[in-house]
Amino acid sequence: MSQEKLPEAHGPAGELEPFADPGLPEHEPRRTDIDEKAAKRAERQVSLLFLISMLATIGFIASYVSIDKYDTVDIFFFGKIGALNMALGCTLGVALFCIGAGAIHWARTLMTDEEIVQERHELKSAPADREAAIREFQQGASDSSIGRRPLIRRTMIGAMALVPLSGVVLLRDLGPLPGTKLRHTFWGENARHGVNNGNTLIINENTGKPLRPSDIIKGSLTMAKPDGLTVENHEYLEEMGKAAILLVRLEPDEIKSTKQLDWSYEGIVAYSKICTHVGCPIGLYEQQTHHLLCPCHQSTFDLADDGAVVFGPAARSLPQLKISVSNEGYLEAVGDFAEPVGPSFWERG
Ligand code: FES
Repeated sequence: MSQEKLPEAHGPAGELEPFADPGLPEHEPRRTDIDEKAAKRAERQVSLLFLISMLATIGFIASYVSIDKYDTVDIFFFGKIGALNMALGCTLGVALFCIGAGAIHWARTLMTDEEIVQERHELKSAPADREAAIREFQQGASDSSIGRRPLIRRTMIGAMALVPLSGVVLLRDLGPLPGTKLRHTFWGENARHGVNNGNTLIINENTGKPLRPSDIIKGSLTMAKPDGLTVENHEYLEEMGKAAILLVRLEPDEIKSTKQLDWSYEGIVAYSKICTHVGCPIGLYEQQTHHLLCPCHQSTFDLADDGAVVFGPAARSLPQLKISVSNEGYLEAVGDFAEPVGPSFWERG
């Protein structure tokens, strides 16, 4: 590729500049600049676009007052959608598009396209000012004696380099790492200590009493906690947060999975109360569908289908707790949850 040699240029002090301004290319007139008929045609085109925009705006207002908000239209591919929203969206879209298209066409065909140069003053300071600044800097360095006292210079650099390290100790205030604590809940305590065959009585969170199967009423949620977990326990709040469960009675034939049948007792199922999205407590139950809704971001779990996510941002099912009934006729949990409860990132704990 051939490169044209640029002319040499000189700055105000006569020094050689690294490149020269090639200047603006010569202006080439457009058809509309030299042909009055073409200019008139462009004018009509621009006006037509503005006119269409006006009609679309009138259509927008007419749609708003004349279309019922419950009317629907069947659109291929999209299915049934609201007729009013459709009309408002289309008319407003056309109105805005035509204003934009008209303005661009006007600018490209009829407004002047001659490039102009705005002269600016030199950004670089005058040589005298630059020399004065350098002189002042050198005077300051000499007054501080930093150049003559290397001991001070080196120790100052060392001190400034080390002082940010003191921020590292603040990391300790973030608390100890959780280790594997998030993988287990209080429901597994008996299993870990070889007590009661690893089973734990299920205690009603409100009354503090053990629950019998007949206490679980169809259509309502019963909140519960493990036997032995009281405020006297070390880390009670943390353990309670992980171990909280809810019990629901379903008709056995409504249960969709065989695992769930095996883990339930006469249609009673127990699930973690902690949402697997980011850990909100769940408590909204739809009796007809057996869906459990998290109020935080609307994750919805199907209690009749292994707690599967049917809607929302949660990435995994609600952990189920296997339950049975003791010789005395009380509901009890058979060991711990089979998977970590709570948000998915707890699994990495
Ligand atoms: S915490 Fe439940 S949906 Fe976000």
